Amino acid sequence: MPTSLSGGRPVIEAIVSMSHIDNGNPQPANLPRRVTTKTLQKMRSDGIAISMLTAYDYPTAEALDSAGVDVLLVGDSLAMVVQGHETTLPVTMDQMLYHAEMVGRAAKRSMVVVDLPFPEGQLEINRSVEASARVLKETKCHAVKLEGGAEQANRIEAIVTAGIPVMAHVGLRPQSVHVEGGYRIQRQTDKLLADAIAAERAGAFCVLIECVPTEIGRAITDAVSVPTIGIGAGHHVSGQVLVTHDMIGFNSGYLPKFVKQFSDVRGAITQAAQEYCQAIRTGQFPGKEESFE
Ligand code: KIV
Repeated sequence: MPTSLSGGRPVIEAIVSMSHIDNGNPQPANLPRRVTTKTLQKMRSDGIAISMLTAYDYPTAEALDSAGVDVLLVGDSLAMVVQGHETTLPVTMDQMLYHAEMVGRAAKRSMVVVDLPFPEGQLEINRSVEASARVLKETKCHAVKLEGGAEQANRIEAIVTAGIPVMAHVGLRPQSVHVEGGYRIQRQTDKLLADAIAAERAGAFCVLIECVPTEIGRAITDAVSVPTIGIGAGHHVSGQVLVTHDMIGFNSGYLPKFVKQFSDVRGAITQAAQEYCQAIRTGQFPGKEESFE
């Protein structure tokens, strides 16, 4: 079974190939076809790397969707990157739904997964099922993500039984930051394997692995048959996810080692704003072109 991210294939080739494999049937390459749990499973089987990024609003989701990102995640990281909190803990279910509704409407091809925010995935199982059902009922999103593995197996099973696809999140669990005493690389191979296997057995369609050594990312991927998505988990996984604000350089704070910055959006915004202020101060804006006769 292929487990490496792209097997050396360029990303653009993976995107083009993807448009031909929806539901196993050949599709015209120029038609956007919705990415589903089945598509992701087939991508893993065919060794096509899965791309996933976070999105929290309509224009960003629209841009990422049309760029060919396979999965959009309305992550609870929005508490940190959008709301400016120090952890993911403060964001509420209603706030998640507010953002998920915009992302779900914007995404034409990408599958959209929504995080269950703290403590929706920690209290009674029925409460998690109800919260997950709100995601499908009140937004156009397609699945939920839940932190935890073995100890969450009953919860995952209950949500999947209700007809809601679940992505399990193992390894570093940001919602447990205060128990862990910080954000640390996770190295307990046996526990991590047990978590991923339990999540798959409970019905999770995918396992997200955060912040583990490359070899543990590979071992987990080899141990399960569902796709694995890594963030700081090396390249022997079925796909990769990053927080979009980190990836595009729209963050002022600390960047984890696993982030690759592909742009400098904060720099571009700062420069544009400085030029705007300068143009106002010097009377260059508005000019004739921006004024009515
Ligand atoms: O909330 C989030 O952004 C996440 C990351 C793993 C991408 O869960």
